[in-house]
Amino acid sequence: MYEDNASDTVIGVLREIRTLARDGAPGDRLPSVRTLVARHHVSPLTVQAAIRTASAEGLVDVQPGKGSYIAAPRAETPTADLSWQSVALGPGRQGEEVLSSLLAVPSEHAITLSSGYIDSTLQPVTALGAALARAARQPTSWERGPIEGRHDLRGWFAREAGGRLRAADMTICSGGQPALATAFRGLAAPGDVLLVESPTYLGAIAAGRDAGLRVVPVPADADGVRPDLLADAFRRTGARLFYCQPLHANPHGGVLATSRRADVLAAAADAGAFIMEDDWARGLTIDGTPPPPLAADDVNGHVVYLRSLTKVVAPGLRVAAIGARGVAGTRLRTARVLDDFFVAGPLQAATIDFVTSPAWRRHFTALRSGLHTRRDALLAALRTHLPHLAPSTPPSGGLHVWLRLPEDVDESALVTAAAAQNVVVFGGRPWFAAEAPAPHLRLSIGGAPADSYDDGVRRLSRAFTTV
Ligand SMILES: Cc1ncc(COP(=O)(O)O)c(C=O)c1O
Repeated sequence: MYEDNASDTVIGVLREIRTLARDGAPGDRLPSVRTLVARHHVSPLTVQAAIRTASAEGLVDVQPGKGSYIAAPRAETPTADLSWQSVALGPGRQGEEVLSSLLAVPSEHAITLSSGYIDSTLQPVTALGAALARAARQPTSWERGPIEGRHDLRGWFAREAGGRLRAADMTICSGGQPALATAFRGLAAPGDVLLVESPTYLGAIAAGRDAGLRVVPVPADADGVRPDLLADAFRRTGARLFYCQPLHANPHGGVLATSRRADVLAAAADAGAFIMEDDWARGLTIDGTPPPPLAADDVNGHVVYLRSLTKVVAPGLRVAAIGARGVAGTRLRTARVLDDFFVAGPLQAATIDFVTSPAWRRHFTALRSGLHTRRDALLAALRTHLPHLAPSTPPSGGLHVWLRLPEDVDESALVTAAAAQNVVVFGGRPWFAAEAPAPHLRLSIGGAPADSYDDGVRRLSRAFTTV
């Protein structure tokens, strides 16, 4: 039940409460906190934590000032027939399954080489906890606040983007994925074309399709999207929106080359189109200095800029900002209100506290070195156990290593065989909006410690021998 999160001492008290609830009658009073403290030699806080857990499990009723009582069990209900719902609902929404499998929580015995987030050892949990505690103590955090988000936080995101974006152009969202869904609905109409790099983030493909857009791929390589093909695609399809990740693109890690930036912007300007820049990996650079966002070079408002903090800080910090100048900015704000009103005040307050504290910079120094060690450990493991797959150019940042597999390898059979070896990897197919040119695997460095890659890749090489 809740034992995963409870300390051993809490579990000891909880066991007794569960036994009392099972053997007693509804309405019986539980022993007092003082009695449980004496019996288990623990603090009152520990006893209270156990009672709270039992209350969440529906085993006890806590009556303030009186004590805790055994709760009445839920009445047995006859088995329901819910099968009519499949007929009523028809087919599911596109992309739901693949996104759910991407976000599935792996078994604790598995080595996770597929995680889109950094694990707790890389997260600044102490500083985040302190920031959230301070935020929660400010009564104004719990107020409604402006729907587009706190002005100071919007200003911070705008300054980080550089260029001409101002606080007034930014809207705070609860993460990158909802921001993409909002942007695709707010800036395009069903039936319109959405151009995407190929391969690209499968959640963007899914959100585009869910908004009724026709998602058309434009080939990208290690230097980002090919500007000549992008210009062609704009001309041929009449698209007004192009989704791209200029920095450490997920899944392949490419960075849009300096020599291509002006041509990409010109292609969008010629087409009278928007570029949706997903800057999710800012802060995940391992080698060298990252180029500034494309938004910094944008003069006439063609770039819509998205920056989320979930990947670089912690998945629980579901705070992002989306920025656009002119009517596009207004459209985004309106679209977002329709989606979910506004982001929780305490989370916004904690974010501005954290990003303006010394802990913010300290976090990135530690993160860079942690990712460096993990990436190199993964590459070394590949060179040892699967040398024919090791990439010739390692990614200079981001969370993923993209492997092209031999033509005859059945990618999904390999993913299943790897799972049987207790190593979680993700296949390449869903990252292509049209046919995949070859089978691929995406291996990630966010979710497993550096000393697990050798074993993980050894298991993966064993999986290879079975497909
Ligand atoms: C490129 C990219 N953009 C956006 C997202 C959405 O992330 P979040 O909603 O956690 O900010 C992801 C998550 O995997 C991603 O890889």
